[in-house]
Amino acid sequence: MSGKKGRIDTILVEGGRRKEWTGAIVNPPVWRASTILFDTVEELHASNPPQQGRLQYGRNGSPTIWALADALTQLEPGSAGTRLYPSGVAAISIALMTLLRPGDELLMVDTTYSPTRAFCDDVLARMNISTRYYDPLIGRGIEALIGEKTRAIFMESPGSLSFEVQDVPGICAVAKERGVATLLDNTWATPFFFQAIAAGVDLSMLACTKYVVGHSDVMLGSVTAAPEYWTRLQRTTRSFGQQASPDDAFLAARGLRTMGVRLRRHEESALTVARWLRDQPQVARVLHPAFPDCPGHEYWSRDFSGSSGLFSFILKGGDDAARSRLIDNLDHFGIGYSWGGYESLALPADPAPIRSATAWTAEGPMVRLHIGLEDVDDLIEDLAAGLGRYGASG
Ligand SMILES: Cc1ncc(COP(=O)(O)O)c(C=O)c1O
Repeated sequence: MSGKKGRIDTILVEGGRRKEWTGAIVNPPVWRASTILFDTVEELHASNPPQQGRLQYGRNGSPTIWALADALTQLEPGSAGTRLYPSGVAAISIALMTLLRPGDELLMVDTTYSPTRAFCDDVLARMNISTRYYDPLIGRGIEALIGEKTRAIFMESPGSLSFEVQDVPGICAVAKERGVATLLDNTWATPFFFQAIAAGVDLSMLACTKYVVGHSDVMLGSVTAAPEYWTRLQRTTRSFGQQASPDDAFLAARGLRTMGVRLRRHEESALTVARWLRDQPQVARVLHPAFPDCPGHEYWSRDFSGSSGLFSFILKGGDDAARSRLIDNLDHFGIGYSWGGYESLALPADPAPIRSATAWTAEGPMVRLHIGLEDVDDLIEDLAAGLGRYGASG
């Protein structure tokens, strides 16, 4: 089944469901294993070195894991394979360790997810790997930053919290000319809205915790590799003893089957809420890649086939206490980290302390919203009441 080609919605349904793994049933079952038993010493020896798709030892995977990895690989045309990790941050850290060694320099986008920044400033720094942060809107101008020690360029598009869209194909083209590897955190768009490897990215990471899982009940990460980096990624992953749990891979594979339907609904509702917010007197700005005033919007229009459910808005005036009164009493929005599940979330956010190459200024406090699958009219009524509380106290 999974050998057939198809369009993206078909791949979401069929990807990874090979008969040798599923038998006659529809969903790849949970293969839990540490020890794998061999019939003979010869067979045991023949199982080395470990390969994806061949049972050897639990840490090297089982069909549940390969089925999901296969599906994610099929969603990225031009890629050679995918490895799974126990979280998105684990995926990002192993991808970086695949490419970097002591003495190297990493170019890191200034708007990256803050734990990614923390990994660079802590672990990479301890290994004598330096990180230079760059403006997300630098585009092909990144060439001027590439020095003798630069080995990799990390992108996250759109950026965390403030949603600047990067010229990913432009940066990848420059990097290739200069022999520098590229990485992209593609969690916001997923391959459903942006196919990273085809755009020239070498290692594409997803926090599957978000839209792939889609139900806020599993932590999982993935790295999908271009052919040139697939062997190195596998070796590094094995050396760090990284693997996802088959139970989590099973749930993520279930989530993946409906990801397209969910994303289209997240997109539509998020755009409805964002357009409504834009017209409210308490709102100074809405930061959404599909809006023409979003920095880098032209790259979103050129490269992406849609937008997901996560965006931010800036309030006019007011302070943190007023923002808390807005968020605290919302009926349909949870308050919490993460996003990408079926439910709506509201989060107070402030990019200022987690930037170093660019300045962040805003007219008032920021709120990041994840728009879930609820009735969008309920969400708007809820936000209207929240803005009323903000206006009354601001
Ligand atoms: C853009 C982005 N990348 C990576 C991660 C990390 O994923 P995880 O929470 O699975 O470690 C997150 C989590 O919020 C994220 O927003």
